[in-house]
Amino acid sequence: MFPLRRNRRLRTNESIRSLVRETILTPNDFLVPLFVVEGKGIKEEIPSMPNYFRYSLDLLEKEVKELWAMGLKSVLLFVKVPDNLKDNKGTEALNSNGLMQRAIKVVKNTVPEMIVMTDVALDPYSSFGHDGVIENGIVLNDISSSILAEMALSHAKAGADFVAPSDMMDGRILEMRELLEEENFTNTGIMSYSAKYASSLYGPFRDALDSAPVDLVDIPKDKKTYQMDYHNRKEAIRETRMDIEEGADIVMVKPGIVYLDIIRDIKNMSEVPVAVYQVSGEYAMIKAAAEKGWLDHDAIMLEQTTAFKRAGADIIASYFAKDIVKLLK
Ligand code: PBG
Repeated sequence: MFPLRRNRRLRTNESIRSLVRETILTPNDFLVPLFVVEGKGIKEEIPSMPNYFRYSLDLLEKEVKELWAMGLKSVLLFVKVPDNLKDNKGTEALNSNGLMQRAIKVVKNTVPEMIVMTDVALDPYSSFGHDGVIENGIVLNDISSSILAEMALSHAKAGADFVAPSDMMDGRILEMRELLEEENFTNTGIMSYSAKYASSLYGPFRDALDSAPVDLVDIPKDKKTYQMDYHNRKEAIRETRMDIEEGADIVMVKPGIVYLDIIRDIKNMSEVPVAVYQVSGEYAMIKAAAEKGWLDHDAIMLEQTTAFKRAGADIIASYFAKDIVKLLK
């Protein structure tokens, strides 16, 4: 007796394994999240995200040049807003000379070919740490959506290539698209966080931007009335279908590693590119386990990130982008 097929033949050595490999990461797959702060000469490490930093605009320049030289061609900008500029309506988000608007210009002036995507959501600007305006304990949908559309327009005016709404209000993609068209920003794209789950993996990001929901009476303690319930799968398809109909150029699943099934579902139904966001908590878990010596940092990083592409992701937003590209060399 002998086995009918010997699958191990194609695994004999690295040469044959690389010949039959189905999924290969390249620098083109990555979108690099960047955190920006006011000030000068600042590169500060985020405590819950070891080896990840917030940059002031002068040092952002340096970082962007380095990314470009490594073959990383797109960034996703987030800003940390000083407390005294926060309010319920996120008024500062529309300031044409705000930190985000200046950051967009800095990146575009430093490396014009770099694709600049911007986070469109109220939470970094909200005194309550929510992605929309709050009234009587409720995160209002329609007024928030209108502010987000104005915010997207403001980013487009500053030079953003893509706006990336991460808020999960209903109808905001359509409102944003219509406003951009009316104002002649016909080439500004929309990457929608379409299937964004109410996850416990966003903690370190909220540390990075000081954007966690505040603990006050009458303020919702979590984002479950707008971000999706992780028990659900069909809902992700419905959200994504609607965002595509409303004009999204790219759709996204977030977080990543515990939502591989969703990435595959979305890949199968979507006629636009699918992005995944490997979020801050995923980054922190790998860092923490590696620090303890319990997991091999580079090995687990590559395994998890490759899984996103295998599951169907066309674009991977990852805090590991630089580390991975170094290893791919
Ligand atoms: C805010 C936003 C969040 C993230 C991206 N945009 C946090 C949240 O929804 O509370 C999380 C990213 C990460 O954890 O890395 N709209």
